[in-house]
Order: sequence, then C-alpha cells, then structure tokens
Amino acid sequence: MPAASRGVSGSPRAKRSAVLRCLVVALISTILLAGLVVLIFWLIVRPKPIEYTVTHAAVRHLNVTSPANNAAAALVNATFYLTFSADNPNRRLSVRYRDVAFSVHYGAGNSNDDKASAPLAVADPVADFRQPPRNETRLAVRAVARSVPVAGETARELEHDRAAGEVGVEVRVSARVRFVVGGVRSRRYDMSAVCSPVVIGLSPAAARSFRSVPCDVAIS
Ligand SMILES: *[C@@H]1O[C@H](CO)[C@@H](O)[C@H](O)[C@H]1NC(C)=O
Ligand SMILES: *[C@@H]1O[C@H](CO)[C@@H](O)[C@H](O)[C@H]1NC(C)=O
Ligand SMILES: *[C@@H]1O[C@H](CO)[C@@H](O)[C@H](O)[C@H]1NC(C)=O
Repeated sequence: MPAASRGVSGSPRAKRSAVLRCLVVALISTILLAGLVVLIFWLIVRPKPIEYTVTHAAVRHLNVTSPANNAAAALVNATFYLTFSADNPNRRLSVRYRDVAFSVHYGAGNSNDDKASAPLAVADPVADFRQPPRNETRLAVRAVARSVPVAGETARELEHDRAAGEVGVEVRVSARVRFVVGGVRSRRYDMSAVCSPVVIGLSPAAARSFRSVPCDVAIS
C-alpha cells in the first residue's frame, strides 16, 4: 500500500492537487496578511467620526408677501447668518474639504412636494480648506433669500412662525472630502450633513440663547 500511494503521488492528478493546496495556502495567508494590515492601520489611526454642528444662527429681514388673490406663490426675503463647526477629533487624520456648500430649507420635512425640498436660500461659496488633526474649524456663512417663490401653504406657515417669534429651518451642508493619514490620501468622498431643526429666534435676545444643533452626516 505505501508503495502504491507513493506511486500515485507522482501522478499528474496528485501534482494538480498539490498545486491547488499551495494556491489555497497562499490565498489564505494573503487574506490574513491583508486583515492584519487593516487591523494595525485601524489600531494606529483609530478613526473617529467628524462632528458637524450648527453653533449659531440668526435671521434678519425676514419678510413674506401674502399670496395675492390668485397667485399660487408668495415671495420670501430673508438673510440667514450661520456658524458651523466641523470638529475633527482624530490624532492622525486630517481632512481636505472642497466644494463646501450650505443651503437653508424651510418646510422640507412636512411635504412630499418637490418644491418644498428646494432651498429657501443658498450661502455664498466657502473657500476650500484643510483641517489638521485635533482641530475644530468654524465657518461663518450668510445665505440670502431674495424674492424666493414659495407655495401658499409654506408662506402661511412661515408667516405663522414669524408671528410666533421663531422660525425652524433645516440647514444642509455638502462637500467633497478627502482623508489624509501619514501622507496617504483617500479617494474623494461626498459628504452631506443635515442639521434639523435649527430653531432661530427672531428677537436679538432669543438669538443670543441659541442652542447648538448637531448634524446627521452621510459619507458616500
Ligand atoms: C416687509 O415688507 C413690507 C413691504 O415691502 C414692508 O412694509 C415691511 O416693513 C417689511 N417688514 C420687515 C420686517 O422687513
Ligand atoms: C424683497 O427684496 C426685494 C429687493 O431687495 C424687494 O423688491 C421686495 O419687495 C422684497 N420683498 C419682500 C416680501 O419684502
Ligand atoms: C484649525 O485649523 C485652522 C486651519 O488650519 C486654523 O485656522 C484654526 O486656528 C485651527 N483651530 C484650532 C482650534 O486649532
């Protein structure tokens, strides 16, 4: 029997299975090695999520034309002043931001109407910037709505909010981001943050007591 099996081990079939075994071992060690590299990278970098917050908001010149008799749309004027914080708590990871864009939406949550998700105001462009590790960067932006048409129902709600002395809006932020660790850059990702509800008091006293609003972030 031993002699017979030795004879078989020299056959082409046995050689093939030896090659196959070798490939499987190589594949498994490659996977293990890759896993180890990822694990070590993770342990060294320990990535933490970057936190985005609206830290201050104020509105000036809020004005709504009451819809005229048959007009479907009312016109809104408003100037929003927003302060936004991006907090990178990571020790080794820095972030590069491009195409940062802010918009203010009103009544986005309570309607399936496409118009409702159109922004009320879009902020002035923000310059690209780099965020070093362990850094909090604050951005102050201004978003102006000038004679923006809104649906009659939205206008009534806005007028109601104005009379009540505070207006609740949704702030959306989008950017292209790249993560950098030890000189190695990731690909660019799309970042989108939704901060809601951002309740803005219309009186100066109410504006001073603004409470920060954390944003939900999606990176894809
Ligand atoms: C709103 O606009 C009307 C007409 O343009 C003006 O009379 C009024 O003072 C404005 N109100 C505010 C709060 O700006
Ligand atoms: C909005 O502003 C424009 C120009 O600044 C002005 O002509 C218009 O009457 C204003 N509308 C309201 C509703 O105040
Ligand atoms: C964060 O980084 C920016 C840009 O490099 C810098 O201007 C700012 O002072 C830094 N902030 C803190 C809190 O370190």
